[in-house]
Amino acid sequence: MTRIPWWRDAVVYEIYVRSFADADGNGEGDLQGIRSRLGHLRDLGVDALWLTPFYRSPLADGGYDVADYRDVDPRFGTLDDFDALVADVHAHGLRLIVDIVPNHSSDRHPWFQEALAAPPGSPERARYIFRPGRPGERPGEEQPPNDWPSAFGGPAWTRVDDGAGGGEWYLHLYAREQPDFNWRNPEVRHEFEDVLRFWLDRGVDGFRIDVAAGLFKDESFGDLAGRDRRVANGPIYSRPEVHEVYRKWRRILDEYGGDRMAIGEVWTDGPEDLALYLRPDELHQVFQFDLQLASWSATAFRDVIDAALKAVAPTGAAPTWVLSSHDSIRHLTRYERPGGIPGIERARAKAALLLLLSLPGSAYLYQGEELGLPEVTDLPDEARQDPIFERTCGELAGRDGCRVPLPWSGRAEPFGFSPAGVRPWLPMPRDWASMTVEAQASDPSSMLAYYRGALAMRRRLAGDLPEELEWLDSPDTALFFRRGPLTCALNCGENPVRLPPGTPLLTSAPLYGDLLPGNTAAWLRTP
Ligand code: GLC
Repeated sequence: MTRIPWWRDAVVYEIYVRSFADADGNGEGDLQGIRSRLGHLRDLGVDALWLTPFYRSPLADGGYDVADYRDVDPRFGTLDDFDALVADVHAHGLRLIVDIVPNHSSDRHPWFQEALAAPPGSPERARYIFRPGRPGERPGEEQPPNDWPSAFGGPAWTRVDDGAGGGEWYLHLYAREQPDFNWRNPEVRHEFEDVLRFWLDRGVDGFRIDVAAGLFKDESFGDLAGRDRRVANGPIYSRPEVHEVYRKWRRILDEYGGDRMAIGEVWTDGPEDLALYLRPDELHQVFQFDLQLASWSATAFRDVIDAALKAVAPTGAAPTWVLSSHDSIRHLTRYERPGGIPGIERARAKAALLLLLSLPGSAYLYQGEELGLPEVTDLPDEARQDPIFERTCGELAGRDGCRVPLPWSGRAEPFGFSPAGVRPWLPMPRDWASMTVEAQASDPSSMLAYYRGALAMRRRLAGDLPEELEWLDSPDTALFFRRGPLTCALNCGENPVRLPPGTPLLTSAPLYGDLLPGNTAAWLRTP
């Protein structure tokens, strides 16, 4: 039998490092904290871990603003801690993927500091994207070079102060503390090739490429003029030049043994565009956010699953699925229905897991979903740290609500996240005592027990499942499909539907005889 590379059907667990486990007692998670909790991840039954950035950073965007790509931020530990973590992760039979942030650096990165100190037209400025402004309405006034918006609100340009009332503008597709690199400069390419090798040499199994479609911008820097900023092959994202970079990165990954991989964060409106990144000499995977974006509806799920499978089919790559991440509202909360049946969101989250885990390809889980954590919606304004909150003047709450530290044990904050008496970087809800890993581990009816059971069963079945999915007839409110010996049935409606044929293996809620209740899923052994 041909061996399938590990990432093709892996369950990958996203660790938001700052919020996972705090060993050194500074209120923020760290690498030693992760080491101390690897048992939880092994018992959960995932195959790999993806760590969000832990590099030196002022944390203007939670670490996606990197000041040194070859070092660990002292808040998160040291390079020795990292090496020890890699060894422990591997000893637990898990793989490790790290985030790489090539589109922009921190404004504290030495290169950007040098660029600020150097004049327009200098080689130092040529590592970033500096442009003159446009004349404003009044004499002496200046407008940004074009109308591009920052993804976090406000314009994508900030003017630098040259001390004489002048100064160029620099591009930042995200916060002003995240200047975009100029990828047309070979120095930038070489730097990142070297950074990849630095972490590959330390034993990582793969990379999650942040803003993978963003690196090249249209050189004319024309206005968007009302177009969506993410439009495929528009001026900002998915320029054709980006693919040459990933071809080179692929060659580097292939030089190393052991199935090293890369998954790109590619937001695009075009499946054909997505497929370009998956050509056999480019990335192994791209995130497919379709499930995360779909509402609770069998028709919506069927449509996005079909579209996602169709998008990757011509490439031969395996699809990827995700319900939650550090950038989105936790799916448990997304599935709430104001005024609906109490607990419906929990029932739906349990059912959604069986869908996620029975689709072909790999599944990306986000820390805390195994505990059934909801989005924290009532964080005080002064606690919020996401630049989206500040840049939209509070109009958008931002992503802090899904980044609240994990509750591990105990009855009160910090719930074992930090040593007792330490205040975590974001406040934790008082009523999380029943959500801790400790409280759930010994309770067979807990979300944690359910996740463990489902992951264990997926692992047992995995070797027998074909990569193809076959739809079966179902009532409109439900979806049924088969992958060889496994049949998955999901009822998104409120009323029970008759189950497809098969012997039940696992259900997200008790069945009524041969009826599948609303907001429930079942795995069955295909007859
Ligand atoms: C990606 C990350 C997000 C970050 C942004 C800018 O979308 O997932 O957290 O803010 O890139 O780096």
